[in-house]
Amino acid sequence: MALHFAKRITEYKLAKELFTRGKDIILSPEAQVMKTFIQHGETTVFEHCVSVAKFSLLIACFLEKTLKIEFDKDSLVRGALLHDYFLYDWHIKDSSRRFHGFTHPGVARANAERDFCLNDIEKDIIAKHMFPLTPFLPMHRESYIVSIADKWCALAEIFKIDVSSYLIYRINFRIALINGDYSIDYGETSVEV
Ligand SMILES: [Fe+2]
Ligand SMILES: [Fe+2]
Repeated sequence: MALHFAKRITEYKLAKELFTRGKDIILSPEAQVMKTFIQHGETTVFEHCVSVAKFSLLIACFLEKTLKIEFDKDSLVRGALLHDYFLYDWHIKDSSRRFHGFTHPGVARANAERDFCLNDIEKDIIAKHMFPLTPFLPMHRESYIVSIADKWCALAEIFKIDVSSYLIYRINFRIALINGDYSIDYGETSVEV
């Protein structure tokens, strides 16, 4: 019980940090489109990207504490949130997407550059996240972290291991709050939160 409570608090704090660092992307209508596509199992592309951002942040915090390696955490989160911004259903058979595994990082980067203002680290994270499947070496340490977090999240989603549902709930709750889609019903009066 105590462990469960501690885990919830950690997830709550992580959701808060992730939301603060990636707010402009998370709240954009463009990124919300990722909710309409499935990535693995029953996980949407948006949920997958949020989960990858969470584990990227966790790994970076761990390495900062233990090895004193510094990371650009804003770019880390923003790049992770957009790393699969390819905006199509890769499960639908289409000859132009036959090599989705190899080509989608390039598509995601082009889409992300079109819709958002990105720095070099964020572009590198998106373009190289499938390394070593794609042969180009990541140029920034943040890209390696997202690539590792991506593989872990993909495995968890394929094998239906719940690793991020509470954090994803917290992110969606914050989106709803800001968009005014959440209200508490006190009976006769409804108070907007
Ligand atoms: Fe990907
Ligand atoms: Fe991914």
